[in-house]
Amino acid sequence: MGSIMSCCSSRQVDEGYARNSTWRMFTYKELHTATNGFSDDNKLGEGGFGSVYWGKTSDGLQIAVKKIKAMTTKAEMEFAVEVEVLGRVKHKNLLGLRGYCAGTDQRLIVYDYMPNLSLLSHLHGQFAGDVQLDWKKRMKIAVGSAEGILYLHHEATPHIIHRDIKASNVLLDSNFEPLVADFGFAKLIPEGVSHMTTRVKGTLGYLAPEYAMWGKVSESCDVYSFGILLLELVTGRKPIEKLPGGVKRTISEWAEPFIAEGRFKELVDPKLRGYFDENQLKQAIYVAALCVQNEPEKRPNMKEVAGMLKGYASRGNLMKTRMDSIKYKEELLALDQTSDDGDDLEESCGVFGAITTPNTQDPYNFYGNKKITKRV
Ligand SMILES: Nc1ncnc2c1ncn2[C@@H]1O[C@H](COP(=O)(O)OP(=O)(O)OP(=O)(O)O)[C@@H](O)[C@H]1O
Ligand SMILES: [Mg+2]
Repeated sequence: MGSIMSCCSSRQVDEGYARNSTWRMFTYKELHTATNGFSDDNKLGEGGFGSVYWGKTSDGLQIAVKKIKAMTTKAEMEFAVEVEVLGRVKHKNLLGLRGYCAGTDQRLIVYDYMPNLSLLSHLHGQFAGDVQLDWKKRMKIAVGSAEGILYLHHEATPHIIHRDIKASNVLLDSNFEPLVADFGFAKLIPEGVSHMTTRVKGTLGYLAPEYAMWGKVSESCDVYSFGILLLELVTGRKPIEKLPGGVKRTISEWAEPFIAEGRFKELVDPKLRGYFDENQLKQAIYVAALCVQNEPEKRPNMKEVAGMLKGYASRGNLMKTRMDSIKYKEELLALDQTSDDGDDLEESCGVFGAITTPNTQDPYNFYGNKKITKRV
């Protein structure tokens, strides 16, 4: 924990960055008071790490406090990575650190409170009925999130792979400007390293096939997850949908035939009631189709993605007219709860063999005998 503690001393950051000008240590008592004793009324949501509470500090600042559920080694590790990474990043589309509290038996992380909560809550959660997300806001969220990830991949030193890009980790400020959050699974990439093999973490539905199957992690995994997020934004559908009869279908499986037949308008979220920009729609779908290609080498990088979404860059002839789609096998889908309640998947050796893709080769010859376990 040495480096974690040392990176979190109170300090000034970029003056041009108004949102998070300082961060500091909080006492447990201070956070207890700010959140009304971590009362259920203050609870904003719950994730793998623990619960998140709304609070107000004595000087009037609105905060979101993430409180560790149980002091396991895994949770402590997540806390350490989150604080370490947050200490390194500074971008208008990344949720910065307001502070933290680390006592003998508790870990709490303090962020600025984001009044519009997460993208998930607007697409599929408590705000879904309000339809506050018009087309313009959706495109702003797409571009902003892409720029946040671009910063992690290309501008942060060392480069950072997020590994858990998904709708609940895109928070929205009062102007619906997106802020990518949750760096507990992030990987810092040493210079000159193109990919690494790691334990598989993340959320089923957003996992790139080479990562889910073999634990091969690179920036391309985030690109894949971003492609799924983009499809979700445009269509309003969940990454994995439960059909009547219990069958589960991925969003790319659903979108594939529409794209192949050029029926783009039918992909758009019906909640938008036909109000969207047709050119932007085509561009967004093309970008998503490029991002969710099975072969990581073929996917664009985030600079290209952001450029294409902003309309000043294109892949010319590479414009895809088909979308690759992966099909998760039954045993893996049986573990998925994202289509119901947003649970995650974590597996120590990957979920090899649980996904079918037409073109992906097994580079490590690991096939078979991999047991799938669910994160608890
Ligand atoms: N800074 C914040 N401001 C407002 N709401 C927040 C903030 N941080 C988190 N939340 C809310 O708390 C919920 C839970 O967040 P949390 O990150 O713990 O879980 P998750 O994203 O659903 O899952 P995971 O543990 O996989 O990240 C979010 O979906 C969001 O609605
Ligand atoms: Mg989260």
